[in-house]
Amino acid sequence: MITILNVCGARPNFMKIAPLMRAYRAHPTIRPVLVHTGQHYDKNMSDLFFTQLQIPEPDVNLEVGSGSHAVQTAQIMQRFEPVVLEHRPQWVLVVGDVNSTIACGLVAVKLGVKLAHVEAGLRSFDRDMPEEVNRVLTDAISDLLFVSEPSGIENLRREGVSDGRVHFVGNVMIDTLRASRDQAERSPVLEQLGLRKGEYNVVTLHRPSNVDDPATLGRIATAFEEIQKDLPIVFPMHPRTVANLEKLGLAGRFRAMAGLRIVEPLGYLDFMKLTANAAVVLTDSGGIQEETTILGVYCLTIRENTERPVTITQGTNQLVGTDPERIIAAYRRCRATPLRSAPVPDKWDGKAAERIAAILAAQG
Ligand code: UD1
Repeated sequence: MITILNVCGARPNFMKIAPLMRAYRAHPTIRPVLVHTGQHYDKNMSDLFFTQLQIPEPDVNLEVGSGSHAVQTAQIMQRFEPVVLEHRPQWVLVVGDVNSTIACGLVAVKLGVKLAHVEAGLRSFDRDMPEEVNRVLTDAISDLLFVSEPSGIENLRREGVSDGRVHFVGNVMIDTLRASRDQAERSPVLEQLGLRKGEYNVVTLHRPSNVDDPATLGRIATAFEEIQKDLPIVFPMHPRTVANLEKLGLAGRFRAMAGLRIVEPLGYLDFMKLTANAAVVLTDSGGIQEETTILGVYCLTIRENTERPVTITQGTNQLVGTDPERIIAAYRRCRATPLRSAPVPDKWDGKAAERIAAILAAQG
């Protein structure tokens, strides 16, 4: 028997862990244990994803909640250590780049348990991003590194990771997207929000670099003020951004935009339906850059860099930074140019989790 402790904690982890938990079922020698760190805890940041993606109830919930980086990371480590000691797994598997990823990875290797990292090798080369630090550190201590796009292989090679530990398996987030498309199609969200296909834009913003600084968020607001005159904007707002709008004194400017509608964070299926039918998606999320590439929808990424370059070279993504003129010009180009169908990145075929489960089963 191979016991694998699988870790998830924050919203973008759930769609990555879902197909893995399913893929393990084909391997009777694997005994999966699911650990939720509780980094995200609101109903529509966590529970809804478990229900909609049919993720089994976590075997363990560490219930850490929010805190500073140090507090959150330290609490996850403290609470995860006894879980590893109790279950004595052969592997700990972590996904993505959130604080739960590095915290649990570090606990595993210090206890001599082998570590597998799903979505390894991505690099923005921007160490101001907390996620970049989490990515670099997690990869440095992982025994098996599962890579989603070719840039990951190059980055790991450059950092001296031996090829034998690196497996190019594809993208587990896209496994979930492909498995959920029919169900997402049936979501009533467009009718509920009074939207017509192709006649609205979607915005998401939550990166500290964008939403913690009043000058930057103000510049982004200037772009939205213009864009919402062309087509309405739907903005499912992350709790960090909700809190900051008030704190930074920008709530009034957002409320004054007649064409911009702030809604609660949406569940996976509603969000997928909303994105799939949008004219343009403007975002600072990592995962959404990948999802729009498969959905064939324009994505303008409100950042200066991306750790997912394949979404630019083979997808629908463009980096537009935070300068309003640049954002508006890119938006106008999208509106003027019908999107040509882009090639699908290699191995984004819905089978990444199956490949990962097979590799883990063969490790013994
Ligand atoms: C985290 C991840 C980020 C990921 C994002 C997706 C890290 C370092 N960052 O950022 O990579 O893109 O999740 O959402 O791990 N909050 C709630 N309810 C919740 C969760 C959070 O209200 O269920 C609020 C709290 O006020 C909290 C704040 O949001 O302080 C930020 O949450 P946190 O988990 O620290 O970071 P995110 O910004 O969500």
